[in-house]
Amino acid sequence: MKKITIAIDGYSSCGKSTLAKELAKELNYIFVDYGAMYRAVTFFVAQKNLVTSNSIDKKAIIDILHEVNLSFQLNEETKTPEIYLNGENIEKEIRTPFVSSLVSKVAAIKEVREKLVEEQRKMGENGGIIMDGRDIGSVVFPHAELKLFVTAEIATRVERRYAEMIAKGEEVTRQEVEKNLIERDHLDSTREESPLIQTEDAIVLDNTNLNRKEQLELALTLVKERT
Ligand code: DC
Repeated sequence: MKKITIAIDGYSSCGKSTLAKELAKELNYIFVDYGAMYRAVTFFVAQKNLVTSNSIDKKAIIDILHEVNLSFQLNEETKTPEIYLNGENIEKEIRTPFVSSLVSKVAAIKEVREKLVEEQRKMGENGGIIMDGRDIGSVVFPHAELKLFVTAEIATRVERRYAEMIAKGEEVTRQEVEKNLIERDHLDSTREESPLIQTEDAIVLDNTNLNRKEQLELALTLVKERT
């Protein structure tokens, strides 16, 4: 079967990466979590206090970007790629509420996006790849053969993210999760540089009332139509 490029965009906590990982396993494709790259840069600059809850030093962030080296390596146990920053696995560190609360501010910086988009394009050069993010179908891979715009009602998204964080042992309330999702969605879809948009050729996949299996089957049908 011909290998295509699949772009999955959508709001925060819609289950994009869950779908992308499952699709990648079924199809034997490579899955790249582009949000992880923005999270990794945020983690790096937050450690240096260049972004905090009430400040951001854009110039200093841009100046230090050349020190950021990102790569993905397959975790043999889970069979999913994990992100490394300058040789160190930071998969866990980037998923904290702290990084989530700052990432959309850092992702809005033009120079940060330019650096990451260049690396993202290189990763996807040969097809057989599934990427999830905010600007994959619009900017990174505008010619992707299949573009999915994943969405779900806010209450469902809050519940899913809350359960995920509690399972990880994070101390968080539903209100905090909801506030973070709404803030990020707003920043991600209103920023000047490649905001989150639903492209005309994207297929909307609303998974509010779909379980993981139903969502996967629907997506697989769409892939088969294109291969
Ligand atoms: O998918 P995620 O929630 O891990 O993404 C974290 C943040 O990274 C998200 O709030 C916005 C940013 N992002 C982006 O701007 N463009 C992408 N292609 C992917 C993520």
